[in-house]
Amino acid sequence: LLLFPFSSLSFLPFFTASLSSTSFHVMQISSFVNSTWTQNRGSGWLNDMQIHGWDSDTGTAIFLKPWAKGNFSSETILMLEEIFRVYFFVFTSEVQDHVNEFELEYPFEIQGLAGCELYAGGAIMSFLRGSLEGLDFLSLKTGWPSPEGELRAQKFCTVITKYKGICETVEKLLLETCPQYLLSLLEAGKADLQKQVKPEAWLSSGPSPGPDRVLLVCHVSGFYPKPVWVMWMQGEQEQEDTQQGDILPNADGTWYIRTTLDVATGEAAGLSCRVKHSSLGGQDLVLYWGHSLSIGLIILAITVPCVLILLGLALWFWRRRSYQDIQ
Ligand SMILES: *[C@@H]1O[C@H](CO)[C@@H](O)[C@H](O)[C@H]1NC(C)=O
Ligand SMILES: *[C@@H]1O[C@H](CO)[C@@H](O)[C@H](O)[C@H]1NC(C)=O
Repeated sequence: LLLFPFSSLSFLPFFTASLSSTSFHVMQISSFVNSTWTQNRGSGWLNDMQIHGWDSDTGTAIFLKPWAKGNFSSETILMLEEIFRVYFFVFTSEVQDHVNEFELEYPFEIQGLAGCELYAGGAIMSFLRGSLEGLDFLSLKTGWPSPEGELRAQKFCTVITKYKGICETVEKLLLETCPQYLLSLLEAGKADLQKQVKPEAWLSSGPSPGPDRVLLVCHVSGFYPKPVWVMWMQGEQEQEDTQQGDILPNADGTWYIRTTLDVATGEAAGLSCRVKHSSLGGQDLVLYWGHSLSIGLIILAITVPCVLILLGLALWFWRRRSYQDIQ
């Protein structure tokens, strides 16, 4: 199982960016601190959603979603956990034994990624990728090696052949187990995966970008699934200078994004933030800059007189009572 590795983080956007496909992959991050100390972290992902963790003390999987086992039986799950336990053990000791041969220097980090991807037409491709300090040394797609990092990969493969059947196991896991598991996951997690959660949006001003300028900030939060379109507009005109932040995860599995626009103070009025999201059913969410302020002013205009009247009344009662007390 040596180098049944999983992959570099930089590999991820490739899979998550394409909406027409769905992928499941397991990820490994192994930190080799010194000759005796290694930390292994493992996780399982359905697109950009983490559905498995790995408890490296007990060598067991942590299922983060009720449907994360797909349709696999508990025996199959136990067998897979055993494979990963052995893999982590063998991987760690093999790397430690070959540090000099591979010209590695402590501390270093190895990342691995392995899984399969389902395309809209129904085709499924498997992949395997390994990287050392962020540089790929192994990259396989449905079994075809890529020229990059071939030399190191060859060295690793000569190590693999020491273990009988390991290559077959990896092949079976990637080409048979993974596609079956991915299809059953999509079925088991259907309700969760196809859910639509509407975003909430609000406006604020950011730190002033300069004299007579204002940074308009549009916050959009709590939406699912991830794809979203947020733009600052002048009427129907998209503002090209709109800056998109990264789409960040909320703790509840929904997403958050902020987009900003740097404008001259006098030009802010009349600008709006427009949000398009699949949950909105074609009805864009539109927030106008200045409106929240005027609503605030209206509320202020109503509450201040009310408070004054109440105060006046209280004062009148208090006076009257004091007057009666004196009598
Ligand atoms: C390896 O690193 C661990 C954790 O930092 C430390 O406790 C241990 O003493 C180190 N061992 C050696 C041989 O340097
Ligand atoms: C699990 O689901 C996959 C994909 O839908 C299917 O091919 C397989 O036969 C199922 N296995 C069981 C035990 O139901």
